[in-house]
Amino acid sequence: MNRKIIAATNNKGKLIELVKILSERGFEVLSLKQAAIEIDIEETGTTFEENALLKAREIYKIAKIPVIADDSGLEVDYLNGAPGVYSARYAEPGKRRAKVLEKLQNVPYEKRTAKFVCCICYIDENADEQLFYGACEGKISYENKGENGFGYDPIFEVREGVTMAMLTDDEKNAISHRGRALEKFVNYLQK
Ligand code: IMP
Repeated sequence: MNRKIIAATNNKGKLIELVKILSERGFEVLSLKQAAIEIDIEETGTTFEENALLKAREIYKIAKIPVIADDSGLEVDYLNGAPGVYSARYAEPGKRRAKVLEKLQNVPYEKRTAKFVCCICYIDENADEQLFYGACEGKISYENKGENGFGYDPIFEVREGVTMAMLTDDEKNAISHRGRALEKFVNYLQK
């Protein structure tokens, strides 16, 4: 199997993960840059699926070859699900994790539950649309820990004392919201 697919994202961290997971399964993943598509899509949806759909549709309209889009984010229970779909815009770049940590200052460990969620939208060569979901539960740490991954990974504990940013790429992909959603996508194609 060698399927060409465009990854509809300008997020470097996501792109690296999408390329790694999908190329190991026989896909040829093109970035927007490689597909010579220069576009900044405004995420006007209020849900992960709306945003995943609008990103995939916009790119499919231009490229007319299969597209995959990922909309994802961090939902913190103590913050009633925030930052959620607004994870990428929760604060100035470089200040987002600090904002979460500050809002959870003095919150006891058992109340720091959170989850990463991901919605993948796939549009195939016939313009058929499919959605796939993945989630990963954990806790918000008290400080940044670890150097790997991106975004909120350094403050998301997958087990006590171990953040997502302390895992190797393969360890993260095996349990992450994105890895799980992509696994469903790959299984769907193999059916
Ligand atoms: P969007 O899907 O483009 O709206 O961006 C989602 C945002 O959620 C990213 O910019 C990150 O801040 C965060 N996010 C999504 N997935 C991950 C992840 O795997 N690790 C850390 N942060 C993530």
